[in-house]
Amino acid sequence: MAAAGATALLPAGTMGGLLSSCGEKPLSSGSPFDEVIDRGGTWSIKWGRATNGEIPMWIADMDFRTDPYVSAALRSRLDRDVMGYTSTPAEFIEAIASWEKNYHGYDVDKEWVGYAPGVITGINQAYLTFTSPGDKVIIQPPVYDHFKLYIERLGRVAVDNPLIFEGGRYRMDFEGLENLADDPKAKMMVLCNPHNPCGIAWDRESMRRVADICVRHGVIVVSDEIYGDVVLYGKKHTPFCSVSETASRVGMIIAGPTKAFNLAGISCTGFCIIPDKDKRERYISTIRNAKLDEPSVFTIAAMIAAYREDNTWLSSLKEYIEGNIERVVSFFTENDFGIKPLRPDATFLVWLDCRSLGMPQDQLMSFFKEKAKIIPSDGSSYGTGGEGFVRLNVGCPRSVLDDALSRIAGAFGK
Ligand SMILES: Cc1ncc(COP(=O)(O)O)c(C=O)c1O
Repeated sequence: MAAAGATALLPAGTMGGLLSSCGEKPLSSGSPFDEVIDRGGTWSIKWGRATNGEIPMWIADMDFRTDPYVSAALRSRLDRDVMGYTSTPAEFIEAIASWEKNYHGYDVDKEWVGYAPGVITGINQAYLTFTSPGDKVIIQPPVYDHFKLYIERLGRVAVDNPLIFEGGRYRMDFEGLENLADDPKAKMMVLCNPHNPCGIAWDRESMRRVADICVRHGVIVVSDEIYGDVVLYGKKHTPFCSVSETASRVGMIIAGPTKAFNLAGISCTGFCIIPDKDKRERYISTIRNAKLDEPSVFTIAAMIAAYREDNTWLSSLKEYIEGNIERVVSFFTENDFGIKPLRPDATFLVWLDCRSLGMPQDQLMSFFKEKAKIIPSDGSSYGTGGEGFVRLNVGCPRSVLDDALSRIAGAFGK
């Protein structure tokens, strides 16, 4: 299960001339992200599934070291040898508020910001605060599967307003949303901004329309912005509550540095931004009553370090991810296997449209696993509209990505 094994599995020269004809950028010499790190013995969920020499490209964590500044902050906190009960310090809230302002141009009042015990747990606490069992929560599939999973586990009902895929682009179905929101049982909508798995950084106008529709029907919008820091190609992340006065009243943001800084294993790295006082007080009291309001010392140290001003590590990471995405896009453009990649605005995930292969989903998944020896995420797990797709996690060293692409080519007999 060692990640180091991924390239070791690659016979020298496997890429042959395949990628050299793709117009890809040469390996960026000396990029720290080129390092193949050994994840063996780190209890990695991702690599634990690769039991037969596959390259795991499913669950969304990256095979990179985290930001060295974050690691240094963790080490230094550990060196204090004191791990007692911990409260949320003012610097934590300040770091988040400054990050939102400096990185995303969203001027938040510090009062609006609070700790959230991870993004999914944070969203789950929103269901518990603002909905009752049997109430409906609107989601927009294909979308991150844990929304529906926990809506149902908590006895609420997930209702789908599927995204519309037209001309190679996704957009929201506002008419569908209006109809679903009109149901008195509909109490909440979960927006995925940017959207996983389709990689969309939602535009201001679409989110204004969401806010206008939801406010009319008394539906609260929870915006999951875990990928907000991974918006690529010089585009900007637009925090939902920043798009209009209405959005700031009807919405709340749950986000965290988990994805951008690869901190999933620290766990519970999250925060909320809730401009509306009444919602904020109710939400924070739910978190407190569940005793989820005590972040770990590592969460605090990591988040303050990650959200420092002038984080150049993150810029380099994003540049590297863009290079990987371009590699995938070029590869599938120049090798016409019938797989169409969607270039994401955000995330390190490439949504691959495999529908023209005409394979049923289980066959498609075994094609990748058994024949190509890579493990992408199953598109159908993201709900309506995910059938015929897979999601490829390209948060890995370029040599590993090249190995994966070469394996796909091999599986097609090339
Ligand atoms: C959209 C989205 N939200 C939340 C999460 C999980 O966040 P956390 O680990 O903080 O619960 C993921 C993980 O893949 C995700 O893709």
